[in-house]
Amino acid sequence: MREPADFRVVPADTPERWEGVLHIRQRVFAEEQSLVDLGITDADDPASLTLVGLDANRPVSTGRLTPAQSGRAAYLSWIATLPEYRGRGYGSSVVEQLVAAADAQGYQELQLAAQAHAVSLYMRFGFARLGQPYVVRGISHQAMYRIHPPEVRSRFTRR
Ligand SMILES: CC(C)(COP(=O)(O)OP(=O)(O)OC[C@H]1O[C@@H](n2cnc3c(N)ncnc32)[C@H](O)[C@@H]1OP(=O)(O)O)[C@@H](O)C(=O)NCCC(=O)NCCS
Repeated sequence: MREPADFRVVPADTPERWEGVLHIRQRVFAEEQSLVDLGITDADDPASLTLVGLDANRPVSTGRLTPAQSGRAAYLSWIATLPEYRGRGYGSSVVEQLVAAADAQGYQELQLAAQAHAVSLYMRFGFARLGQPYVVRGISHQAMYRIHPPEVRSRFTRR
């Protein structure tokens, strides 16, 4: 078994890393989940921070942080790990670093549309449920949000 040191999370800031991100999106959201029809990129990609997790330099996990127009909030999206690499903490590492980047950039609120199976993952990073679950193409989703800093979060967040 390889050491955990073989895994690292980096920005998708080279053509090779970006190709890796697109491969993961294609495998997970298009082929596995049939969630996307119109492609695996969108208009928010250029203004977003996209991270990619590398296992022995192979791109296996990804996620994206996108500023909202208000400037105070941001969104997490396109979070995925290749099926054969799940359950090793890679998705959590990507989310942890996206959240750290959002905090460092001063966003007061983070939002995301979680798939139901991933709700507990996001709760570990301070996210709370917003409203009722809803279904998109047969997959149960839950809107979630996270207030920063933590002392403000504890006043607003009900679990
Ligand atoms: C959600 C997702 C990104 C998590 O990635 P990951 O690399 O498996 O993340 P982690 O290893 O940090 O574990 C996440 C959770 O999945 C559980 N898990 C363990 N083995 C798993 C497996 N083989 N397959 C799926 N989940 C597994 C972990 O126990 C953990 O559960 P917990 O949060 O209740 O502790 C990944 O399952 C995925 O790509 N899912 C499909 C796309 C998706 O749902 N994206 C999120 C949209 S909000």
